Amino acid sequence: MLNDQDLLDLARAAAAHAYVPYSHFPVGAALECADGTVFTGCNVENAAYGDTICAERCAVVKAVSEGHVDFAHIAIWGNAQDCCWPCGSCRQVLSEFNKRITVTIGRGDGAFVTMPLTELLPHTFDF
Ligand code: THU
Repeated sequence: MLNDQDLLDLARAAAAHAYVPYSHFPVGAALECADGTVFTGCNVENAAYGDTICAERCAVVKAVSEGHVDFAHIAIWGNAQDCCWPCGSCRQVLSEFNKRITVTIGRGDGAFVTMPLTELLPHTFDF
């Protein structure tokens, strides 16, 4: 398994591919599976703003479409002063696959925090 810093470096590199003509706020994600496979993602915006795809869900959809659902760790990076906290929809989508996934969240200056998804999304909806 990659350490936090190495996974975050992959997330930061993935942000270079972000399609962000509206927000000009690139976000990158790197999602590591239990077998060590890593899928990256970036945000992909749309003129119909609500159709924008976040970096985290981009990575999740790439992984699932390639047959991977056993997620262990995700790193997220955005060039912001504060950590690039994942939005509520991305937290919910991650919880679908692993409610305890480890989440590393970076900010523009390279600092980061790591915590379980349970801290970001307690009392997850499920049925
Ligand atoms: N964004 C993400 O990629 N992930 C998040 O968890 C929060 C927001 C993107 C969506 C949009 O392209 C830009 O950040 C500004 O909201």
